[in-house]
Amino acid sequence: MRKNNDSGRLTVYLISAVIFAGAVILLIVNSINGSDVSSAQINSNTSSTGNSFSGENKTPSPPEIKTAMSDDGITPRVPACVVKGAESYYSDSLIIDNPDDFLCIVNRKYNLSSDYCPEDLVTVSIPFAPGRTDDVKQMRSEASAALSELYNAAEKEGFKLYGASGFRSYNTQMVLFNKSVASKGSIEEAGKLNALPGQSEHQLGLAMDFTLEELGYRLKESFGETEEGIWLRENCHKFGFIIRYPKGKEDITGYSYEPWHCRYVGKKAAEYIYENSLTLEEFYGLK
Ligand code: DAL
Ligand code: ZN
Repeated sequence: MRKNNDSGRLTVYLISAVIFAGAVILLIVNSINGSDVSSAQINSNTSSTGNSFSGENKTPSPPEIKTAMSDDGITPRVPACVVKGAESYYSDSLIIDNPDDFLCIVNRKYNLSSDYCPEDLVTVSIPFAPGRTDDVKQMRSEASAALSELYNAAEKEGFKLYGASGFRSYNTQMVLFNKSVASKGSIEEAGKLNALPGQSEHQLGLAMDFTLEELGYRLKESFGETEEGIWLRENCHKFGFIIRYPKGKEDITGYSYEPWHCRYVGKKAAEYIYENSLTLEEFYGLK
């Protein structure tokens, strides 16, 4: 009888020990899973902030991108474009998912969605060439403040710059591109100077074209050889801007030399890009 009691007690001890060990194992497993979840969240939060730039990092990660798709999610997106034949230019385009990032890249390959419009557009306070409409006198707030600083610094040196074109919506860019095709005679010729809708940095509200009275307020390559154009090329980085389409880099940017087109990227990146004579494509290691 006593032997039976003893073996019963032993069984109870054994079962208790097994339950206790199981509970301990469960606790350990849960705590491991818990820390995995929080570190995954931290990682995903970190990467979702978009581009990061550090002066030491030569080629920061390119922005996260999504393949452009139609609504059915299967076929590549072909945006509505009234220019016959322009669709072919979109065959391998991608829609960027970080258009609000001051360092995002927009070019022939990395495009903006047709409905993208920055939310913090303001009217810039620099003089514009005659006849410019109010919508193109806008830029994003931070870029506009930097532009005022640039304009004032140029004026102090005796240089009088005029804005020619800042923000342009997708539709404005389409109208402009179509006019350019009509005057130049082909999409290829128009495309050397004018971006297709969705491919223009002007849609970001981060670009400004400059001109001069002495050029009849036109955008001419000779701007680059004027005192004002040289000053702009050598100083715009101090205010966070880059000359986006430099001479000799046409194969990389895909566009003709545009000494008048300044793109805001922020001071740190602009200084780095200027010091190393890079285009935004090279900055990202894309070319
Ligand atoms: N001229 C530049 C490429 C633009 O149209 O955005
Ligand atoms: Zn421009």
